[in-house]
Amino acid sequence: MNAAAPRRHFASDNYAGICPEAWAALADANTDHAPGYGDDAWTQKATDLIRELFETHCEVFFVFNGTAANSLALASMCQSYHSILCHETAHIEVDECGAPEFFSNGTKVLLMSGANGKVDTAEIERMVKKRTDIHYPKPRAISLTQATELGTVYSPDELKAIWAKAKAHGLKMHMDGARFANAVAALGCAPKEITWQAGVDVLCFGGTKNGIPVGEAVVFFDRELAREFDYRCKQAGQLASKMRFISAPWVGMLKDGIWLKHAAHANAMAALLEEKIRALPEVKFMFPRQANAVFAELPRRAIDGLKAKGWKFYTFIGQGGCRLMCAWDTQPADVEAFAADLRVLVGG
Ligand SMILES: Cc1ncc(COP(=O)(O)O)c(C=O)c1O
Repeated sequence: MNAAAPRRHFASDNYAGICPEAWAALADANTDHAPGYGDDAWTQKATDLIRELFETHCEVFFVFNGTAANSLALASMCQSYHSILCHETAHIEVDECGAPEFFSNGTKVLLMSGANGKVDTAEIERMVKKRTDIHYPKPRAISLTQATELGTVYSPDELKAIWAKAKAHGLKMHMDGARFANAVAALGCAPKEITWQAGVDVLCFGGTKNGIPVGEAVVFFDRELAREFDYRCKQAGQLASKMRFISAPWVGMLKDGIWLKHAAHANAMAALLEEKIRALPEVKFMFPRQANAVFAELPRRAIDGLKAKGWKFYTFIGQGGCRLMCAWDTQPADVEAFAADLRVLVGG
């Protein structure tokens, strides 16, 4: 391996490894025997900690990844003749290979526009009223991503405005929280303020991007929707027999606010990156940086030059441009090195 090649990248927060606290909890769980399929003390503890965190008696299930979490959660809200409204850049639309439709036996995903990756309330109204006849799939749920695919964050007030529309039209609210921790860290609010107190019925609470090895929590604030969700998980191949190795890392993360500390760090690294490249010629930011991602338009020669130096980052995620994503383990030196390479390439 080239010693000068970057060791950490800006491609995705899932490039990062397992954080020490999750790793330690995994090791602790790796002693003696424990019951399978979630009937173990670690899963109980993780569930209790999630209930404590959200300050409510929610139902909690652990699945292997975000696609499964989103798809199964949405399937629990919809019949096959329903539709799900989401932003046109939503992961459920562009990055889940049709899994939400597949697991719901055909519920149609309908797309809405909105600035900076956020759903526009007027668009909800337009979509719901566009057709109300029996020939069109009946809107049943709104899916929001928090933080969004474009690195922005819905405020509690924005969520409440969407909730008002949802209530008016009998829509359930799903939240894809793959980067929920980054959103909470950015807003500095209590988790309940941007979930059940803002109308969210089901949250897919992401852990993988924040230092957990594998596994997301599906959190039902509307407990009625959780009925028979265990069967849905099992049928979809999402019931881990050694569940404690999915749930134990959550215990390590949720104790002492570690989840928030890591997310705040990732956000701070993105803020630093933004600051370091802001003044460089030909660098244009595409969206407000609010969580752990910076989206920037860079000249082609700079993109090619950075890639030649070994930097990995996506240029096709979101809406074009470069997505520079920071993780729980991104170091200021990584940001400095990237910015220095970019500076040379653009002649700043
Ligand atoms: C917004 C969003 N939702 C969900 C996911 C989870 O996807 P996966 O199925 O890869 O765990 C991701 C991962 O990239 C994401 O960015």
